[in-house]
Amino acid sequence: MNIVGVIGAGQMGAGIAQVSAQAGYRVLLSDVSLDRARAGLAGIAKQLDRAVTKEKIAAADRDAALALIEPVEGASAMGDCDLVIEAATEREEIKRAIFGDVGAVLRPDAILATNTSSIPITRLAQAAPDPARFVGVHFFNPVPVMGLIELIRGLATSDATVATVEDFARTLGKQVVRANDAPGFIVNRVLMPMLNEACFALGEGVATIPDIDLGCQLGLNHPMGPLTLADFIGLDTCLEITRVLHEGTGDPKFRPAPLLVKYVEAGWLGRKTGRGFYDYRGDAPVPTR
Ligand code: CAA
Repeated sequence: MNIVGVIGAGQMGAGIAQVSAQAGYRVLLSDVSLDRARAGLAGIAKQLDRAVTKEKIAAADRDAALALIEPVEGASAMGDCDLVIEAATEREEIKRAIFGDVGAVLRPDAILATNTSSIPITRLAQAAPDPARFVGVHFFNPVPVMGLIELIRGLATSDATVATVEDFARTLGKQVVRANDAPGFIVNRVLMPMLNEACFALGEGVATIPDIDLGCQLGLNHPMGPLTLADFIGLDTCLEITRVLHEGTGDPKFRPAPLLVKYVEAGWLGRKTGRGFYDYRGDAPVPTR
C-alpha cells in the first residue's frame, strides 16, 4: 500500500492523515474545499511543531511527514489511492454522497473505509462502490495519542479487505481489535453508558460536576473524568451514539439522560462550542452547574 486518501480534514481526519504520513504513506487529504483541506494540513504542521519542540520527533521527521501530505479538493481526487478513509461529519447522507463521489474514481482493487463511530457498516456499505471492499476503521481522539483502532466488518466485507486494513493499522503503531457490526461496536458500547450515567448522576444531584469527575478519574484511574471526557468528545456526539445504542438494541438501559439532552438542546456541546459541563471561555474550565 502506498497512497492513502483521507476524506475530511477536521480533528479526526487530520489526525489520521498525520499518523499515516508519519508511518511513511503518501496522503491525499480532502475536504469540501481546498481551503479546508489546507487548514487541516496547517493544523497537522502545528501538532508536529509541538512534537519537535518537546524533542519527541526530529525536525527532519516533521518535514518528511508534511511533505507526504497533499491537500486536494473533494472526494473525487482519490483516484490514485490504495486505501481511502472517510472521516467526514457523522451524518449518513453526507457519507453516502461522499461514497458516490469516491466510487466514481476508486480503483477496482482499492479499499474504502469509514471512521464512523456509530452508523452500521453493513448499511453504509450499500452506498459504497463494492461492499466486499468496504470496512469500518474506527480511530480514537486524539488520534496521534490513542493506541487503538477498532476494525468493523460489514456482512459483505471480504477477509482480504479485513487483512489488508489490519496490516495497515498495525503499521501506524496502533493495536487492533475486531468488532462485529453491532451498535457502538466495542468501545462506545461500553463508554457511552458510563458517560450517560454520569449525566444521570449529575441530574439526580448525586454529586457536583467536579466531584463526579474527580471521583471517577482517581477512583477508576482514568485520564479524565466522564463529564470532562463528554465535553472533549462533544455532547452532541455522545447523545447521538447513545441514541444509536438505544434504538439499535431496543434496550431501555441505554435511554439518554434528560440532562444530556438539555445541554445539547441548549447548544452547550462541550469544548468545541466553549461550553458544556464546563465553561472553557476563561483561563480555566469552570463547572456550569
Ligand atoms: N493531538 C496530539 N497529541 C496530543 C493531543 C492532540 N490533540 N492532546 C494531547 N496530546 C498529547 C500531548 O502532546 C502529551 O504528549 P506527551 O505526554 O508525550 O508530552 C500527551 O498527549 C498528554 O497531553 P497533556 O499533558 O496536554 O494532557 P493530558 O495528560 O491531560 O492528556 C489526553 C490529554 C491525551 C487527551 C488524555 O486526557 C486522555 O487520554 N484522555 C482520554 C481520551 C479518550 O478517552 N479518548 C477517546 C474518546 S472516545 C473516541 O474517540 C471514540 C468515539 O467514537 C467518540
